[in-house]
Amino acid sequence: MMNNSAVEISQLRVRRGKTHVFDGIDLTIPRGEITGLLGPSGCGKTTLMRSIVGVQRIASGEVTVLGHPGGSRQLRDRVAYGTQGAAVYGDLSVRQNLAYLAALLKAPKRDVDRVLDEVGLRPQADQLVDSLSGGQEIRVSLALALIGSPELVVLDEPTVGLDPVLRTELWGLFRELADRGVTLIVSSHVMDEALRCDRLLLMRDGRIIADTTPAALLEDTGTADPEAAFLTLIERDRQLSGDTRRSRREQREEGSE
Ligand SMILES: Nc1ncnc2c1ncn2[C@@H]1O[C@H](COP(=O)(O)OP(=O)(O)OP(=O)(O)O)[C@@H](O)[C@H]1O
Ligand SMILES: [Mg+2]
Repeated sequence: MMNNSAVEISQLRVRRGKTHVFDGIDLTIPRGEITGLLGPSGCGKTTLMRSIVGVQRIASGEVTVLGHPGGSRQLRDRVAYGTQGAAVYGDLSVRQNLAYLAALLKAPKRDVDRVLDEVGLRPQADQLVDSLSGGQEIRVSLALALIGSPELVVLDEPTVGLDPVLRTELWGLFRELADRGVTLIVSSHVMDEALRCDRLLLMRDGRIIADTTPAALLEDTGTADPEAAFLTLIERDRQLSGDTRRSRREQREEGSE
């Protein structure tokens, strides 16, 4: 049977340090689409991405990625993860960083030039990463995620700190990848970027408060502005959850007063 979802999560519970980040999350992410992961700082976006790519220890629950348990060997060259903050070798050139990963993944050598073009770093190919501008360095970590033609690309805030021109270009690249059948999961703080996604998962305080599309989000909240739409949903969630399910942080803060 062909499974059409890229990611299936059931009853995921994660603790990080003393924090219960997730207390039973369920979600499904379709293949070949761009799914945006949005929500305030600390709501659990990075933790969810880490769980999907298999680098997060989970307390219980199931994470299935492309039909296999998250993090399993079979997924090694099928799933790519661009972490928040560039994880690159500063004392190597851009090309050397890419060639190193290509060798590790046994990806074809031509991948290096392909991804250099895709992220627009060909002119900086032989420059040391330490000498790049902030935006260029972010593009190096994106280029690394695209080596080996993965089927699922998970990117944690890939456009943070980029100027609007570059941001638009990168979203164009994400769209091209999705058109080729690649599944993308992209987190962002910038609500404008929500409108560029096919699907949206809005998170608050370790919960998924909406699993929707950009059009449905705007229609449901009666606004043309994604930021206002999100605030509306957060306010609704706050009222729905009431006192008994106030954010754990709010409860903690009150408790310490
Ligand atoms: N090692 C840790 N020990 C304790 N708590 C942690 C640890 N790592 C993460 N957390 C907590 O887990 C929660 C979720 O963090 P996470 O990094 O997933 O949030 P995020 O949505 O990615 O935030 P941001 O938008 O700021 O990147 C936060 O409350 C964070 O403080
Ligand atoms: Mg994060």
